[in-house]
Amino acid sequence: MTQFKRTLVTAALPYANGPKHIGHLAGAYIPADIYTRYLRSCGEEVMYVCGSDEHGTAIPIQAQKENTCAKDIIDRYHNLLKSNFEKLGIAFDIYHRTSDSIHHETAQEFFLKLYHQGLFTEEESEQYFDEEKQTFLADRYIKGTCPNCGFDGAYGDQCEKCGKSLSPNELINPISTLSLKTPVLRTTKHWYLPLQNYEPWLKEWLLEGHKEDWKPNTYGQSKSWIEGGLSPRAMTRDLDWGVKVPINGADGKVLYVWFDAPIGYISATKAFFRELESGDFHYAYPQHSVIKSGSRADWTKWWQDKETRLIHFIGKDNIVFHCIIFPAMLHAAGDFVLPDNVPANEFLNLEGDKMSTSRKWSVEMEDYFKSFEGKEDVMRYVLTAIAPETKDSDFSWKDFQTRNNSELVAILGNFVNRVAVLTQKYYNGSVPAAVHTTDADNELMNEVQRCTLSIDENIRSFKFREALFELMNIARAGNKYLADNEPWKTIKTDEERTATVMHYAIQVCAQLAWWMEPFMPFTSAKLYQLLNFSAEKFERTSFEQLSHGHVLGEPVHLFSNIEDAIIEEQINKLNETKIAIQANKVEEKPDEWKAEEQKPSVSFDEFSKMDIRVGTILSAEKVKKADKLLKLEVDLGFEVRTVVSGIALHFKPEDLPGKQVCVLANLEPRMIKGIESKGMILMADHSDGSLRMISPAELTAVGASVK
Ligand code: MF3
Ligand code: ZN
Repeated sequence: MTQFKRTLVTAALPYANGPKHIGHLAGAYIPADIYTRYLRSCGEEVMYVCGSDEHGTAIPIQAQKENTCAKDIIDRYHNLLKSNFEKLGIAFDIYHRTSDSIHHETAQEFFLKLYHQGLFTEEESEQYFDEEKQTFLADRYIKGTCPNCGFDGAYGDQCEKCGKSLSPNELINPISTLSLKTPVLRTTKHWYLPLQNYEPWLKEWLLEGHKEDWKPNTYGQSKSWIEGGLSPRAMTRDLDWGVKVPINGADGKVLYVWFDAPIGYISATKAFFRELESGDFHYAYPQHSVIKSGSRADWTKWWQDKETRLIHFIGKDNIVFHCIIFPAMLHAAGDFVLPDNVPANEFLNLEGDKMSTSRKWSVEMEDYFKSFEGKEDVMRYVLTAIAPETKDSDFSWKDFQTRNNSELVAILGNFVNRVAVLTQKYYNGSVPAAVHTTDADNELMNEVQRCTLSIDENIRSFKFREALFELMNIARAGNKYLADNEPWKTIKTDEERTATVMHYAIQVCAQLAWWMEPFMPFTSAKLYQLLNFSAEKFERTSFEQLSHGHVLGEPVHLFSNIEDAIIEEQINKLNETKIAIQANKVEEKPDEWKAEEQKPSVSFDEFSKMDIRVGTILSAEKVKKADKLLKLEVDLGFEVRTVVSGIALHFKPEDLPGKQVCVLANLEPRMIKGIESKGMILMADHSDGSLRMISPAELTAVGASVK
């Protein structure tokens, strides 16, 4: 194992093409923030760099949608994201942006370094060209029918319905989204990174080298990419928005956004040290940083010294870029460090449905701040408690409320409040002396120590959910200690015992203040104030923090209950969105939806083998450990059937009982997740990728045949 001297933490550069939601926060920014804050608290040399990703076709496409120019879009959203992150207490060392000239220079230099070593292959290819607009079309500007699933709104790079990556040439009936005309093929030249040449190296470095320490999702996805065979990947694009390709004969071409964006981590580090040297801070946050002095050349220590540990926090859709393509680029360039770990998170759903900004099915940062002022830490807490670390997870407003009221308020807030109030009442706010230490006191100290060791271990292995749970266990232990020792009773009979118990309970509060800081920095600051204590005075190796005679500050409430009405409001907002989505107002309509091609004909006999019946859904529930499945009981007249149906992302179980549906009754029974499913509910694929139930137009007898 390499001994590392310093840790460079990155979180995926968010596209500056729109607001970001809680799924993004849970995916990368919050876990990276907890990790960095913790290492800082431990006195380690660590930096957290991030910034806006301002290139790629996402930006001009958004500009087109909003009827403005790309520059306007990136300025607007860069500022919004930066201020949102600040509000949430995300403590970057620097939040940079890829439109900055430092980044353009850095990315171009990087490209030239590979270019001069002959590491790119040049290839001519046929590419779609829009004759009306006189421009080559980036993959995202072409839409057509997906060759895989038949969906008609597939993009040139991916079908958003079935998820398959595509190339524009695979699309059936392609059209340009700029002119809505059919594009023509023209020859163009691009520079490719032959990824297949890096395969042996990737196998050794990643598949052999990181089998044990990378998360199964990250490792598994990388492995299947490598084993699926790597091919040359174009690192340039025909586009007029981005970093210009710095060689002759490349007019009208820019670097591929996934080539330039990760280099943004390097540029941000460079920008940080330039600002540190000059003292002129624009993107950097010297108040967050443990790096207090340095010169502009210092960025090389962070990127080229083997004693740097590089950690990329990302969402699962970014795995291939951070585990394969960017490492291959760094390896090719030669003298760079490689990621030591890439803790990728799965996705966070919202109330059982995939989050999406365009469908407005999301909780945006800005909206949250408006409705829940002063509750930034509550969102940090909940998103960590439900973080999709090993599989997709679900955010629901009810659960959010419960976690606030019965965890933060009832466990953590209540403990601290009781200690503060009793100390004021009995001792005028001054810490009493511990007189005789008993087994009960030792037990408390042991439990707190066990929790803190576990928090340390879990944070260091990127298990933030577990770490947070252990933090709450400290408060649980404190509550149990008070309940068992009842200082409010002993005050009348045994002053020494009361003083001892209060003394130790106060120490638990001080421990909480320090250990909660990475998770809930605002609350930690409040608690320090309440204790009249500070992180600088905290002694890591000691349970005792506040000695006899220390005077506490004013008691304040750390948390407050969230009332039903506020939660209802959020739920109502989402219900309105749901109605709008279903009425197809919000859903980005695929421009040219076309019905699937007809399948080959069947005889009437073949058709009549299918026994389709009208049924009424009696009950519906989610299948455990299967996000997409619902278990339905359906009344078919002649019997009640259990049917497992893959519709959980489209329908809420509570909405289904009473609905009439058409059921293919004589489909062979199948075991699905341990449940025998008999039959299939018929659904129509809607143009936006959602499903529509096939119900008789009027109430029909259950068991009626459909012919
Ligand atoms: N903008 C990308 C996204 O939101 C992430 C870029 S990460 C970087 O998916 F490494 F390329 F910067
Ligand atoms: Zn598809």
